[in-house]
Amino acid sequence: MMRVAVTRRIFPELIEGLRADFELVDNQSDATWTPKELHAALADADGALLTSGERIDDAVLTQSPRLKVVSNVAVGYNNLDLAACTRHGVLATNTPDVLNEAVADHAWALLLAAARRVGESERWLRAGLWKRWTFDMYLGAEVSGTTLGILGMGRIGRAIARRAAGFGMKVIYHNRSAVPPELAEGARGVTLTELLQQSDHLILVVPYTTAAHHLIDGGALAEMKRTAVLVNIARGGIVDDAALVAALREGRIAAAGLDVYENEPALHPGLLELENVVLTPHIASATRATRQAMAQLAIRNLRAALAGEVPPSLLNPEALDHRRR
Ligand code: GLV
Repeated sequence: MMRVAVTRRIFPELIEGLRADFELVDNQSDATWTPKELHAALADADGALLTSGERIDDAVLTQSPRLKVVSNVAVGYNNLDLAACTRHGVLATNTPDVLNEAVADHAWALLLAAARRVGESERWLRAGLWKRWTFDMYLGAEVSGTTLGILGMGRIGRAIARRAAGFGMKVIYHNRSAVPPELAEGARGVTLTELLQQSDHLILVVPYTTAAHHLIDGGALAEMKRTAVLVNIARGGIVDDAALVAALREGRIAAAGLDVYENEPALHPGLLELENVVLTPHIASATRATRQAMAQLAIRNLRAALAGEVPPSLLNPEALDHRRR
């Protein structure tokens, strides 16, 4: 029987279905594995189901000679060294598309909550401070009818842009590669500087790569409007969190809505002291239906790879030529 390592608790009822066909090394307790424990679990595994918290690099792959597939239960795959996977003939997969709508919804939740000061006013109300209503309390930023900027016009970026139509917004975007007009949802492509300068609100949806590291640094934040809300539902590290804290503290941008952080789960200490930031714990795709769909797609990818087939969301087709058997 082939062996499959499941590195986190991922809907036990779905994982149960694997037990008939595979010997499972299963982290049902959801303990936080050290890299050493991860290496041990993968050492004689044929396949692995993992989340973006587990790093797969050359060292793990060298020590896991039977490993044929690493199936990420996430769309982002910056935890996988794709070049190393390809070199080792290990197929790498992710879970695109099934989370587009849930993640786009969450981006909007953060944008609206930050613009309209939902967290801040709720904290004040819960603290028992609401004694009297005033006409000008908690004045927020206008969202409807303004210009939305989207950094990264991929599948999730487009789902975010579609929602902007309902808010009567003009949408501009910047993307690394050209976006065919029929996929731009009526949005206009601009340079990064134009995006920063012209967006009334800006949502980040780019994958994390070396080139994207600190793409939004102090200099980029200085280009933005003082009234702007910045939303990051992409990956920590794209924003320089220290620079963001300084900009929010000094009112150089109005507010931020963040789902991802540079060193999560640790937060830049300054973030917690700020009222003008809405913080969620990396849950943008976390609806039950979407997380189930992600797990099911990851399982399909895993099963296909171990059956010698081509997985539906294969990231490194180059590995097929010399895949491990
Ligand atoms: C979550 O962060 C994902 O990449 O799916």
